Amino acid sequence: MLLIVAAVALALAIVYSIARSIASYQRLAHIPGPRWAAWTDFWLVRNQLSGKLNFKLHDINSRYGDLARIGPNWVVCGDPGEIRRIWAARSSYKRAYWYRGLRMDPYRDSTFSTLDDAVHNELRTKMLPGYGGKDVDGLHEAIDAQVAAFVKLLEDKYLAGNPAKSHLPYRTVDIARKVQFFTLDVISKLAFGDAFGCLAADADMFDYIKTTEHTLPIFVTVALLPWMIDLLQSPYMRPLVPNVRNMVGFGTVMGLAQQAVDGRYSEKPVVKRDMLGSFVKHGLSRDEAEGEAMVQIVAGSDTTATAIRATLLYIITNPQVYARLQREIDEGVRAGRISSPISDAEARRFPYLQAVIREGMRMWPPATGLLPKFSATDDIICGVRVPAGTSVAWAPWTVMHNKAVFGEDSYQFRPERWLDAPPEQLRVMEQTAMLGFAGGSRYECLGKNVAMIELNKIFVELLRRFDIVLVDPTQPWNSTNAAIFIQSDMNVRITRREEVVEA
Ligand code: HEM
Repeated sequence: MLLIVAAVALALAIVYSIARSIASYQRLAHIPGPRWAAWTDFWLVRNQLSGKLNFKLHDINSRYGDLARIGPNWVVCGDPGEIRRIWAARSSYKRAYWYRGLRMDPYRDSTFSTLDDAVHNELRTKMLPGYGGKDVDGLHEAIDAQVAAFVKLLEDKYLAGNPAKSHLPYRTVDIARKVQFFTLDVISKLAFGDAFGCLAADADMFDYIKTTEHTLPIFVTVALLPWMIDLLQSPYMRPLVPNVRNMVGFGTVMGLAQQAVDGRYSEKPVVKRDMLGSFVKHGLSRDEAEGEAMVQIVAGSDTTATAIRATLLYIITNPQVYARLQREIDEGVRAGRISSPISDAEARRFPYLQAVIREGMRMWPPATGLLPKFSATDDIICGVRVPAGTSVAWAPWTVMHNKAVFGEDSYQFRPERWLDAPPEQLRVMEQTAMLGFAGGSRYECLGKNVAMIELNKIFVELLRRFDIVLVDPTQPWNSTNAAIFIQSDMNVRITRREEVVEA
């Protein structure tokens, strides 16, 4: 008897799950996409784990059109105008459950992971003055110090000789790694008050990079599976799930965040005019400040490192661009328009430099998470009805290579497009490229100002001093996509320039 009941229960469960799958299939059956993606999230999981999801989404949009189905409840949109509308500050779209998977602490939200608009707005309001540098002293100087440390590291350990003349040996350096030391030191200095010291030690301090490279692909994959998020974040699972706080790397940095924050909330609180000080002043609680300090490190290091690496790669593999940028820098130094190091304000006055930075971020957008939003009501996207509750992801490569916006040669690295475009086209190009920072949305990157200061300085300080060539142009780097990029082995040879132009 018991066996019959069990068999009937199993049969009912199977029928129920088949009926559910068919219903879920039919909901979005009118939206084209890969066949398996319509039935199971494992299509997305497999492609996320491939490390090439950014390119795959672009293939999908190229094949099926600007709106395609990539999961039972997922679509991907590659139309820049539609993404701007969906993300817009006043849009009724909200963050989809994917963001819950981005909790660094499984039991607590941050700006990055909260699904609650009111909480999100409140956190942003408290942090905007600090991120904007409004009540922060020495923001630019802190970045300058890390730029100097970066240059010193290269000069002390990695300068190669000109093969024809110099006594220096043949040397190469994996610049991808050193760039991340730089961005980590900048952001840790700003977030915690003390730089990790990666540049000084020429090492991945606390194994932070190593750990994130292992854990981030898992994080972003789990984020695709709502049931898995619930399971791993359930308080009942606490004894079974590894606690990030105890992990080498992540845990150590969380410990540092805690230490930095403790001092500000102790009985005799340390009061400083730095970013953390600004967050405290504007009412962030101790727990929030700790979580947000950690967010700064994760959100601000890999992304900016990728922007620097990719732009540098495009510069050194495009001789005309390289020559023109170096000429602009040299002329600026000669004319006394560039201090040492260049200031942010000065850098903004160099049109070709600005064009190169924009073009680099466009060609290789550093933040490529799905960033899904959903609408509580049915909507029409790219002329197609999208039922309420569907997760709408963006396809960064499709958006950033749109020919109507950027021109027929949108697959080429051509900074000149930013100088030649008529004003109306330039406006649309700017708005589209700034989607890389979620620009114009209520989720706009809080660290954009900091990232831009770093970008404005780093290329000038490298190219005014050094010549940089790829060791093996057939294998420029190893690059894996996991919402951000994990990049290494960008091996270059750095030589001192024959004639360093002095002011
Ligand atoms: C080139 C470098 C960077 C790029 C491309 C970038 C990109 C982005 C994007 C696309 C988002 C929106 C994510 C979403 O939909 O919720 C975002 C959010 C955020 N970014 Fe950045 N980011 C960069 C650098 C930084 C830096 C240096 C920091 C820290 C100083 C930072 C801190 C944040 C924070 C706190 C958020 C959450 C904002 C919110 O939820 O309201 N980012 N970033």
